[in-house]
Amino acid sequence: MVKENKQIANWEFKDFARTVFWFALHTLIFICGFFAVLYVNSGFDLQVLTLHLKSEGEVQNLVYLVIAMCLVSIGIYLYFYHENNAFIKETRNINLVFLILELCIAITYGMGKYSMYARPFALCALLSLILIEKRTAIFMNTVCCFLMFMIDAFLTIKVVEGHRLYASLLIGFSTSILAIYLVSGITSRLKVFLMGFVISLPIIICTLCLETDSLLINPIPLVIYGFTSGMSSVVGMMAILPVLEKIFNRVTVYKLYELTDHKAPLLQKLNEKAPGTFNHCLIVSTLAESCASAIGEDPLLARACAYYHDIGKIEHPEYFTENQSGYNPHNEITPELSVDIIRSHATDGARIIKEHKLPSILSDVAEQHHGTLHIRYFYMQASKFSEETLPLKDFAYKGPRPQTKIAAILMLADACEAKARSLPVRSHEKVDEAVREIIEERMDFDQFYECDITMKDLDVIRKTLTNSLAGVHHDRVEYPKLKIGGNKYE
Ligand SMILES: [Fe+2]
Ligand SMILES: [Fe+2]
Repeated sequence: MVKENKQIANWEFKDFARTVFWFALHTLIFICGFFAVLYVNSGFDLQVLTLHLKSEGEVQNLVYLVIAMCLVSIGIYLYFYHENNAFIKETRNINLVFLILELCIAITYGMGKYSMYARPFALCALLSLILIEKRTAIFMNTVCCFLMFMIDAFLTIKVVEGHRLYASLLIGFSTSILAIYLVSGITSRLKVFLMGFVISLPIIICTLCLETDSLLINPIPLVIYGFTSGMSSVVGMMAILPVLEKIFNRVTVYKLYELTDHKAPLLQKLNEKAPGTFNHCLIVSTLAESCASAIGEDPLLARACAYYHDIGKIEHPEYFTENQSGYNPHNEITPELSVDIIRSHATDGARIIKEHKLPSILSDVAEQHHGTLHIRYFYMQASKFSEETLPLKDFAYKGPRPQTKIAAILMLADACEAKARSLPVRSHEKVDEAVREIIEERMDFDQFYECDITMKDLDVIRKTLTNSLAGVHHDRVEYPKLKIGGNKYE
């Protein structure tokens, strides 16, 4: 999953009530799952199950397990509430957390029927890493290992013998932490697949250490189990990931690479219908990526948002400067109509992205990248024909204002790219002056009130944009026939 900062949101009573309800529901699902496992272990025979429960200490074991499950759920709740409560404020994220645990435990338990050592020990860690983030993956892995240990210890009718009982804890902890750090940052699916072999090695070593008796007789099955475990973790992750990505609308690093491929259907459409806008998006993406890196946000996410921020322009490409070559249709319509067409690109963009079922962060940024700024050029044009002072809001974008740092970055990178393009002299000083002006103007119009961007971030963004734009739009001494500039309506 793309970088997600620790966020502490304000919760109302209804948020507590809703989140507690969903946690309680999933705890109940787990408890029902324990009974289901008992039923499976009894060979689907209720008589065997009843006899088992009547044997000494078994009911007590089940009670231990239920209490432990409740405590684990409370632990998960406290972890997310204190570390990133904005994440579990959304019900679908609670469902994601528990679905990962439920799936991983079910698969791990099922594979355990084949061999304790062939279980996909790193599956939960890898899914949590890609779909949520690294710190949560470590926590989720701990929870998964602990739950597996409890199930092995208290739920298996034919109790797992001796040291094998500790396989989930020992191998699960050690290999999963290694897997998290090995796979973190890898963006190619092939490399992740190859990591399966690397992850297998510590599993094999742990297995051989736990099974010294078998090691002396025939170590080959143990080596095969180890490889099965490592590879099933990686293959399982790659098989489940697209399904969870889709169901929970999560933006993973793989999804971002897919979205930023120039062959992506919407980008191809943008390139065909509005090539000028497409090139503008490419330049904005470079700027946004640098800014995101500089303030600790996800550069790949910034790039994807930049690629799609003006996708709404495919509806009326000829009304935007970058796609015009001489003829300007605005000359034939009223300034009011021009404003309607220009500002609709933000809402159209959000709609198109939603229609194509792309991640919501892209539609949010498309809708927010002009905030509630007014379109000055047409306001001035309309004012020329009016004796009264026209209301500024009639010439403004409908917003909302940027809600995230990424949206704020896009707002600035977009405006600065356009401004730098129209500068006659693009020296470092002139570019810096223009970037400062753009930031100050947006601050004067309260555009950053609804996102958590800081003054320090804005200062870093200013320096980054200045350096990038002074580099990108450096002065040229040749090409005397090249004409740059024109009216920019955004
Ligand atoms: Fe735009
Ligand atoms: Fe733009």
